[in-house]
Amino acid sequence: MSNDPKEPLLLDHEYDGIQELDNKLPRWWVWLFYITIIYSAVYLVYYHVSRSGDLQAAEYDKEMKIGEQIKNAAMGKFESTITTLQPATDAALLEAGHQAYVKFCAPCHRVDGGGLVGPNLTDDYWIHGSSYADTVKVIWDGVPAKGMITWKTMLKPEEIQAVASYIYTLRGAKLATPGKLPENQAPAKPAGPSQFE
Ligand code: HEC
Repeated sequence: MSNDPKEPLLLDHEYDGIQELDNKLPRWWVWLFYITIIYSAVYLVYYHVSRSGDLQAAEYDKEMKIGEQIKNAAMGKFESTITTLQPATDAALLEAGHQAYVKFCAPCHRVDGGGLVGPNLTDDYWIHGSSYADTVKVIWDGVPAKGMITWKTMLKPEEIQAVASYIYTLRGAKLATPGKLPENQAPAKPAGPSQFE
């Protein structure tokens, strides 16, 4: 079978009639194989002998730290703008806020905003101030001691704005079932829509 009689291609073993050819490996394959060996040696020295490179766990920690810094910077930036924010009127955004409200806030503030564990959000009594910025701030920071969750660790600034804009539209709403009575505040004319009007 071979062109060169000194190098027979056919190996001389045979199992159940199956024979094996001794073809030469392609040069590119052999070089690739050498390169992987060289690579593994370099890898071993770089990561495990001289310890110059970060292993997975260290790389993960570094990436997480960078992510944390980016997040903190974004949160700090948002916090510094809270006092200048205005409630959004965009329908899609309000709908997103509505969805978030039903999911996260309704269990304590009732689906229609009338209040359960949390205070009534439709009346003219505000424990933490009636401006839109006050609302965003109380959602952002929460009042952990009183049972209002700190949402900044759970929702993004855009989501907080959406839900704050949505509950702004609940102000002055006429409820089918009477809402929770004011907790401890005298009525304060709110900055937004009101029952007084
Ligand atoms: C675990 C129950 C709970 C959940 C969930 C909750 N709240 Fe509250 N919330 C409260 C309580 C309790 C207060 C009253 C805090 C106080 O007395 O200082 C409050 C207060 C507030 C206030 C201030 C009201 C005022 O009179 O100044 C706003 C605004 C508010 N919540 C919005 C939200 C929004 C928006 C969500 C959803 C993202 C939410 N809350 C989810 C319990 C909750």
